[in-house]
Amino acid sequence: MFHPLRVSAIERITDDAVAVTLSVPPELRETFRHTPGQHLNVRYRVDGEEIRRSYSICAPAAEKPDDPVLRVGIRMVDGGTFSTYALKELAVGDPVEAMAPTGRFVLDPRPGHYAAIVGGSGITPVLSMAATLLAREPLARFCLIRSDRTAASTMFLDEVADLKDRHPDRFQLVTALSREEQAAGLPSGRLDRERLTELLPALLSVPDVDGWFLCGPLGLVRGAESALRALGANRARIHQEIFHVADEGADPATASRVTSPSESRLTATLDGRSGSWPVENGESLLDTMLRSRSDAPYACKGGVCGTCRAFLVSGEVEMDRNFALEPEETGAGFVLACQSRPVTPEVELDFDR
Ligand code: FES
Repeated sequence: MFHPLRVSAIERITDDAVAVTLSVPPELRETFRHTPGQHLNVRYRVDGEEIRRSYSICAPAAEKPDDPVLRVGIRMVDGGTFSTYALKELAVGDPVEAMAPTGRFVLDPRPGHYAAIVGGSGITPVLSMAATLLAREPLARFCLIRSDRTAASTMFLDEVADLKDRHPDRFQLVTALSREEQAAGLPSGRLDRERLTELLPALLSVPDVDGWFLCGPLGLVRGAESALRALGANRARIHQEIFHVADEGADPATASRVTSPSESRLTATLDGRSGSWPVENGESLLDTMLRSRSDAPYACKGGVCGTCRAFLVSGEVEMDRNFALEPEETGAGFVLACQSRPVTPEVELDFDR
């Protein structure tokens, strides 16, 4: 369900990125409290067209129920309708609709040693995690390894430097710039699997880290996961969120493998209400549902954000691509509705689980 909010501040943080703060009316404060790492699904109309996007919350989580701060980082994406609008036209006072914070890429603050490997705007949810953890848990430590193109394009430079100043003994920071020479001893160039395999053991004991958080473009996240596994990190302690998927990340072969029945029917439950609709040839189950239920949850429609996650109650589906669900989630029966096509004549989804 979308709620009406208003823009209360817009700060330019790099040439191509802004931080946008949304004010939350008193009656929605409990609804909009977030766990560090969660994101907001926003809806906006640009030239009459409805745009939905998901943006991670960069602000620390509120300790008290009465002061949630909804601040999100938005970087301009080539051809990105909402990001272009946010950078060029969005103004303080503008209305924006948003759903309650959601997402399972989270760090619940507790004592321990945590680490993150992020690329570009992947810093956004991790900034909230590190700031909240270090403020609330005096015994916790956090190591941030970030990769950006240049210092000028690095988001939240001041906020991260501030964390380093406030927690010099508990916050470890390594920045790698891919298009800029750095001082001797600091890594430059892309942070790929080979570079990380060399770098990580010099920074910390990989198997002893309590939680790894990987966030950013697909290539960086997959390379980091592979390096961590080779260095002995427990699979269950590695959490990931992918922000950008290049074309090569798609799996078009999957779609062509699917033999859809000539007629199929979707039954779905959302917010306690159920319905049943015929699936039209070639459409995803999300699109089937959206023809009758405009409240069906989605943001990217690209298999990346996970907003359309649903439990497959019965029947079989084939997903075109999946960059959002962990193997444990697909193993437990969850699917992405925006990527799912029916394999059996009857399919039932439950969005409420
Ligand atoms: S809407 Fe983003 S994964 Fe389906």
